[in-house]
Amino acid sequence: MTIKRIGVIGAGLMGSGIAQVASQSGFEVHLMDVEERFIQKGIATIEKNLKRMVDKSVITSADAQDIRGRITTCLTLADLVKDADMTIEAVIENLDLKKRVYSELDSLAAPEVIFASNTSALSITEMAGATNRQDKFIGMHFFNPVPVMKLVEVIRGYGTSDETVAITKEVANKMNKTAIEVLEAPGFVVNRILVPMITEAIFVLQEGLATAAEIDEGMKLGANHPMGPLALADLVGLDTMLHVQQHLYEEFGDPKYRPPGLLKKMVRAGRLGRKSGKGFYDYT
Ligand code: CAA
Ligand code: NAD
Repeated sequence: MTIKRIGVIGAGLMGSGIAQVASQSGFEVHLMDVEERFIQKGIATIEKNLKRMVDKSVITSADAQDIRGRITTCLTLADLVKDADMTIEAVIENLDLKKRVYSELDSLAAPEVIFASNTSALSITEMAGATNRQDKFIGMHFFNPVPVMKLVEVIRGYGTSDETVAITKEVANKMNKTAIEVLEAPGFVVNRILVPMITEAIFVLQEGLATAAEIDEGMKLGANHPMGPLALADLVGLDTMLHVQQHLYEEFGDPKYRPPGLLKKMVRAGRLGRKSGKGFYDYT
């Protein structure tokens, strides 16, 4: 099966990036969100990124027009799946919501359509259980910012077929990403390792050992990370970070994964990082 048309569900941070990269790679893209304002925000990000690439002579303005032209938008799953060969879901990290989306999507999509989830940590098998196509259900985990980060984790659920794995890897490669194949477990591979490091940085801040800027400077200069862990948490979104931490903690039952109180407080206060304008740093 050759994938030509991809439906992207959720036009947020990740969905807009996935839509952009898919279109840059020649796929026809249909981008869906629940409200027009979210679509507009996602499209504005894509247009800003394309403009930056034109300004840097990475692509021509004709290329940018073609890329933008391959992306259409809609507000319902019924519209999304009309022509899609594959869907990639990037709605918020909430298992109940994702299961509701998949149950509806399954009733609307042709049986051969592959469902890929960009979840950061949740069970692919449990989401697949909300559908009648467990063999065509897979994890396709992109990294933020999607246009820049080279990795895609391809995650097998309990029932994922070899064919679905092969097709998904091919799509990732066509998007110029390197795919690694991962068996399902909470947080998969990268977030299982990365998220506890960020959690520890938040505990260090909570304990008052150093300022946010000093912690980040320490990890940039002392461990050669491209950005510090607190700035990275702000980039990811503190709500998403907390969801992932809570999920790792619940699934493994190991206190080393417990979320810091400081992060819970910040999320409750609406300080979600870059996307809300304030997190560990002020972006306003
Ligand atoms: N969208 C598109 N392009 C972007 C971008 C964005 N949001 N942000 C940066 N870029 C591009 C810039 O245009 C620039 O491109 P050129 O090299 O062609 O000029 C390049 O990336 C470098 O950007 P900058 O010079 O502005 O800044 P930088 O060198 O500090 O890089 C960064 C920014 C790429 C974000 C870098 O700091 C970095 O790699 N940080 C770590 C990112 C990371 O670890 N991501 C994983 C998060 S965890 C995750 O995603 C999984 C999960 O489930 C939560
Ligand atoms: P986000 O909050 O930026 O975007 C989520 C989007 O989903 C919003 O635009 C929201 O309106 C939309 N949405 C909510 N309910 C919907 C529904 N029923 N149908 C369609 N759209 C709906 O979140 P994000 O950071 O883009 O994260 C999306 C997914 O990607 C999550 O599962 C997250 O864990 C995962 N992820 C995030 C990152 C990251 O760094 N932020 C990295 C990798 C994976």
